[in-house]
Amino acid sequence: MVGIESLAFYTPGYYLDLTTLAEERGVDPGKYLIGIGQEKMGLLPPDEDVVTMGAHAAHYALKDVDLSTIDTLMFATESGVDQSKAAAIYVHQLLGLPSTTKAFEIKQACCGSTAALQMALALVHQKPNKRVLIVASDVARYGFGSSGEPTQGAGAIAMVISSTPKILEFDPESGSYTEDVMDFWRPNYMDEALVDGKYSIKVYLRALSESWKQYHEESGRTYNDFARLCFHLPFTRMADKAHTHLARVSGNREVAPNALAARHGASLAYNRVTGNSYTASLYVGLTSLLETSDEDLTGSRVGMFSYGSGCMATFFSGVVMEGYRSAMDARRHHEMLQTRRELTYRQYEHFYRFRLPIDGSDCNTPRYTAGWFRLAGVKDHKRIYEKVVKDEPSGTLTHTEMVV
Ligand code: CAA
Repeated sequence: MVGIESLAFYTPGYYLDLTTLAEERGVDPGKYLIGIGQEKMGLLPPDEDVVTMGAHAAHYALKDVDLSTIDTLMFATESGVDQSKAAAIYVHQLLGLPSTTKAFEIKQACCGSTAALQMALALVHQKPNKRVLIVASDVARYGFGSSGEPTQGAGAIAMVISSTPKILEFDPESGSYTEDVMDFWRPNYMDEALVDGKYSIKVYLRALSESWKQYHEESGRTYNDFARLCFHLPFTRMADKAHTHLARVSGNREVAPNALAARHGASLAYNRVTGNSYTASLYVGLTSLLETSDEDLTGSRVGMFSYGSGCMATFFSGVVMEGYRSAMDARRHHEMLQTRRELTYRQYEHFYRFRLPIDGSDCNTPRYTAGWFRLAGVKDHKRIYEKVVKDEPSGTLTHTEMVV
């Protein structure tokens, strides 16, 4: 038996309401709220990055875990902070992991986290007394004023994979699909992703049917074997499109919209208010499903679809463990979402335009974070991270007054 022993998620302490963005862009808010299915987008302040977000999530995922059993830390991201040094190494240091723990970074767009998961499952099967920490952390960033802009967001997840899962046990079968396409990419010289939006949706759906086909052949399971489904969520309406498509290609043309929503609806709640978090997004959806679903999901089989543009995709599944609710951190996650600060449009623009120096000069970053770790600045071309001092467990989140 191998699966998720602990699962924690993080999103920064700031957001922009998409009604505000719609007003500024002269767009009917219904397009963002209903057509795209997003209410708020999480915004990364100047003193946070994928390392600080990932470290914050991992701090909680590891709170009841013996650190000496962590064999490997795999860090999945498509918002890497260095071409050579893995973000995992910084997290390894910030969390005080043993020097015997391997730490490295994995990339294949939003699917990097699932590639890490598949490796972790194999590793734990091989060494059942060891654990793997997976961190997935990303900032979804598109051109200012572009059609991708309302689908921005930020967040991280951390999960411990072990042979003593308390949350979800994975099935051994999976189906994957790889194809060389240019639907979404970010060249090294750009801070924003380039995307062929409509095409990316088509490729996502094609990758879903192809990976489902292989999963179905390998496992013999059919659509009705899944009590719940979680999809990669670039925006929550994508789940409606994906689910309708999956029902159709798996031979279930007559599933009513409310029956579809009953199977994936609870997985959308967190993403609706954080926005896309690329590698983390599917697992933020899983967290949302397990924490916001009214029903007890013990014993339910959950189908999961991970899509990474470019592209690689995987369909896989797992069964929810008895007692999973007490292994989740629902109250803290809800509080984190409730205590975020809403930004004005001008403040959003200020965050968006903030850049660390690109000429190699030193800088100190202003203090904004609501998390446990911050990027204090850059000195001699080296990123400087520090732990934030504040009171636990009340964790009163203090935000520096914004100067804009
Ligand atoms: N009220 C209600 N609905 C409205 C509306 C209104 N007033 N106005 C428009 N809509 C609906 C439209 O009918 C449309 O619905 P359908 O999709 O059902 O047709 C929806 O709102 C969106 O409208 P448009 O198609 O006109 O939107 P757009 O052209 O501005 O772009 C987008 C939408 C393509 C998703 C764009 O935001 C984008 O490119 N996003 C980034 C790329 C992306 O997320 N791709 C997803 C697949 S790739 C992937 O998953 C990897 C990843 O993480 C990036």
